[in-house]
Amino acid sequence: MKKKLKLKSSVYYVLIIFIVGIFLAYFGINKYNEYKYHQTNEYKLTTIGYTLEDAKKIISNLSDDDVGYILTINKDDRILQLLDQKYFIKKNFRDYYDYVLANKKMEISEVIPIINCKVNNEYYSLDLETDMSKEDQIIVNKYYHMSSDYSPTDLVKVSMDYSWGDYGSVVVRQVVMDNFLNMWQAANNDGIYLMISSAYRSYQEQEIVYNNYKDSYGEDYANSIAAKPGFSEHQTGLAIDIFSKTNSNRKTFEDSEAAKWLFDNAYRFGFILRYPKDKVKYTGYAYESWHYRYVGKEIAEYIHNNDITYEEYYAYFLDN
Ligand code: DAL
Ligand code: ZN
Repeated sequence: MKKKLKLKSSVYYVLIIFIVGIFLAYFGINKYNEYKYHQTNEYKLTTIGYTLEDAKKIISNLSDDDVGYILTINKDDRILQLLDQKYFIKKNFRDYYDYVLANKKMEISEVIPIINCKVNNEYYSLDLETDMSKEDQIIVNKYYHMSSDYSPTDLVKVSMDYSWGDYGSVVVRQVVMDNFLNMWQAANNDGIYLMISSAYRSYQEQEIVYNNYKDSYGEDYANSIAAKPGFSEHQTGLAIDIFSKTNSNRKTFEDSEAAKWLFDNAYRFGFILRYPKDKVKYTGYAYESWHYRYVGKEIAEYIHNNDITYEEYYAYFLDN
């Protein structure tokens, strides 16, 4: 009987030890998990004022380095506003944010294109070799250049029916020719006679164009209207200066029917107005109502419908 009782109480002890053990293990695991969670960036972001939802957004949209940086500064809602922008690019975060800090009065939405277009840098200061593998989509501007000896291998002569100058003086890449002819026909059906004044220009020809402007009107004006050799889209063979048979005047062409027709329709044939009137601060060039660039129909349609520059498109979709 006594033995039975002793056995019974030791079962109780084991049971109690077991229950306490489970409780301690449970408590310990919880504490450990809590400790681990406190080490996470998500938790740390909430301790400086971000909501859990914002913390998750910051972590999923930024690199570890950038999250680490955010943890060293006070909570700033402008960071969240940056993340909400349509053309926000992850790798540009620090450039956006530094620019926001240096330009406190500027709208956040204005900062994005400035950085994406690289115009926070002085013109010609980056000297980036453009990625030629992008083919029809290569970018050439005041930051990206081509090698001085580049010349497309598929240049074709534009008929004198559609271009001024001696036959053979206006040449474009084959793909430009094919699409220009379709565009020419569509414009002609609408009573407009398009004419090309200039298309492919070699490095040396561009040098002459640029120096002529510089010698005649000074460097500032030259830079607003002409690219330095190596930095001109005309060297790609994908850019064409288009006027009409009745108006080839750079000052008045923008008000002509032909300019309006091109503005409304060129995208259907893969061409974009490369230097629009309201985008001078992004393209770095004065409005050129005649300069069209072939980029392909899909991209041209997107750029036309979304009213962005090629710089913005390239940064977000092709270089991201
Ligand atoms: N007129 C354009 C900017 C060029 O020279 O390429
Ligand atoms: Zn041009």
